Amino acid sequence: MTWTIGAPLTDGGKLDDIVMSRRIVVCVGSGGVGKTTTSAVLALHAAMRGRKVLVLTIDPARRLANSLGVAELDNEERQIPIEQFDAVGLEPKGELWAMMLDMKRSFDRLVDRYSPDAETRQKIYDNRFYQYFSTSLAGTQEYSAMERLHELYEEGDYDLIVLDTPPSGHALDFLEAPRRMADAIENSALQWMYRPSLAARKFGAGLFNIGTTYVLKTISRFTGAEMLTELGSFLSNFRHMFEGFRSRARHVREVLSSDVTSFLIVTSPDPITVDEARFMRRRLAEENIPFGGFVVNRVHRPYLPREELETPASEIAEALSSHGVAVDEVLAQKLLDNAGEFQILADLDAFTLEALRERAGSRVAIQAVPYCSRDIHSLEGLEWVRKSLFG
Ligand SMILES: Nc1ncnc2c1ncn2[C@@H]1O[C@H](COP(=O)(O)OP(=O)(O)O)[C@@H](O)[C@H]1O
Ligand SMILES: [Mg+2]
Repeated sequence: MTWTIGAPLTDGGKLDDIVMSRRIVVCVGSGGVGKTTTSAVLALHAAMRGRKVLVLTIDPARRLANSLGVAELDNEERQIPIEQFDAVGLEPKGELWAMMLDMKRSFDRLVDRYSPDAETRQKIYDNRFYQYFSTSLAGTQEYSAMERLHELYEEGDYDLIVLDTPPSGHALDFLEAPRRMADAIENSALQWMYRPSLAARKFGAGLFNIGTTYVLKTISRFTGAEMLTELGSFLSNFRHMFEGFRSRARHVREVLSSDVTSFLIVTSPDPITVDEARFMRRRLAEENIPFGGFVVNRVHRPYLPREELETPASEIAEALSSHGVAVDEVLAQKLLDNAGEFQILADLDAFTLEALRERAGSRVAIQAVPYCSRDIHSLEGLEWVRKSLFG
């Protein structure tokens, strides 16, 4: 099957500049708009153009792994083998690496790296609070992503890291995750829990006031005494690690706010999603985060030139038949109707794009990715999007 590529909907020049000049590109946006796909396409583009790129994804659906043809994509960095590119006739000048962030294992890595000795490490691993904390606490996934980004950036092995963001929750949660995690350390309620005797006195009143739902939820599975022992042990063993959290959180924030980084907001052409995207842009500005532009994904484009929509069905049937495609007039009419409906969608999307352009101002890059009639789950599909985006 062939992938036909039309003319790009927008000029990919600004986006090309970004992926060729930055060290970190972050794709944010509402759920399901195409963040994972866009991240992979941007990484592929930079690799084709000669950079050594890592796409760091958080995609439990494993679509990216399928697209890149690496079944075993996991918590380790893996290079996309050159044979994968050969198979679809691509010759990257650089290298494409990918990694799928596994929240639990990323947190375990932190424990490995920062716990003072093997005994403490084991105590943390065995602790039920830790098990809960590292998998279920809201914001942990975002926090892990930030920690991993920090580590990879510091190691400096890649020219560019493209960060995909988690599928659920608020799109910009992860920006706040390091700060929130660091704040938790200074939360006085947590501080006093380092001292179990004080905690014991307050048990019943104080503990339930701290407002951290993970504690509340976990408590319901323990008896009072068990809970205190377990929590006390978790906090005293984990304390060593808390200390590094704040400084790394501050550093990763600095990097994200600096000009080595660019944030792209991915959106669909749906007006409601576009409103969300504009809201995110304001939030980024409030947070002093460099904004690279909007990527409007799945933009419909017309099937036929508008004037051809008026062609009589009989002529279409005849033309197709002369190309060896047996189509009767009824089917030809259906094809025309379908093309007409596509024209309506294309008009609506063009209208939304234009409105976004007007409101965002002429300096803001707005890149459109066409709607692809097939799901994108192969390197070939990613290359199709890349060509449609960058020309
Ligand atoms: N331009 C496009 N045309 C058609 N399908 C697309 C396009 N971009 C993404 N998709 C498909 O839409 C689904 C959601 O995309 P994904 O990148 O996983 O979104 P997100 O990461 O924002 O949740 C996937 O099945 C993907 O293959
Ligand atoms: Mg995704």
